[in-house]
Amino acid sequence: MEYVWDRVDEVGAPEELVEVQEGLESWDVVRAYRGAMRELTGAVGVLDLGAGPGGETTYVGMDNSLAMARRALARGRRMVVGDATALPFADAAFAAVRADRVFQHLAHPVRALAEAARVARPGGPVVVADPDQSTLLIDAGGCPLAAEVTEFRRTHVRNADFAGRAADAFETAGLIDVGARRWRLTLTDPARAFGIITWGQAMVEEGLFDRRQCREWEQALAAGPFRYQLDYVVTVGFRAA
Ligand SMILES: C[S@@+](CC[C@H](N)C(=O)[O-])C[C@H]1O[C@@H](n2cnc3c(N)ncnc32)[C@H](O)[C@@H]1O
Repeated sequence: MEYVWDRVDEVGAPEELVEVQEGLESWDVVRAYRGAMRELTGAVGVLDLGAGPGGETTYVGMDNSLAMARRALARGRRMVVGDATALPFADAAFAAVRADRVFQHLAHPVRALAEAARVARPGGPVVVADPDQSTLLIDAGGCPLAAEVTEFRRTHVRNADFAGRAADAFETAGLIDVGARRWRLTLTDPARAFGIITWGQAMVEEGLFDRRQCREWEQALAAGPFRYQLDYVVTVGFRAA
């Protein structure tokens, strides 16, 4: 399985991944849960972990991708390039730590969470958002192949279930007063659904669909009606004072 989001600079066209992230900034559900994250962190002294193009970076962002950091810098953000699992910051250096759709991609999410807790000041919040892929529901006019496509999507996210168990991971990391809230994304246009129009072909390449199944799926997508539903989870915990 090839995951791209934790090695953006190594893929053929990192700029395209930067554009994908910037494009999501205007989505209603993204704006809604980001607003809730902002209320929890405030804007002062916040470390934005895996900041990407820096849409929500108010103080310092960090990312392991130069392409992402360059875009954030061009938008006037302060960026550090480094790895979320080994933060180049002192203990208690930040008033708050946030990470938006980063933990789902990390090979070592527990280690990164320990680092986030370490650099938050005592009493400061750590706020993490990720989609919970176990809630993913795809329907294309009742086509029975949707179940296989849904599974394909889930197995292409490294930590597809992290959002659902983030609260437990927060408590294991020693964070206190842990809570979580969900927002539901519903898309009815396949052209907006994370490239789903290309997944049939990708499944053929991975030996999961034959050509007939690919055609059947693509026809179902074109005919509609279409529904892509997914819950986003924001989890918060506080470093003990
Ligand atoms: C889905 S994007 C989200 C970007 C940004 N948080 C946003 O909301 O626009 C995931 C980001 O995490 C970064 N990332 C992935 N693995 C990382 C790691 N180990 N350390 C730091 N950043 C990482 C990626 O480069 C990418 O910018």
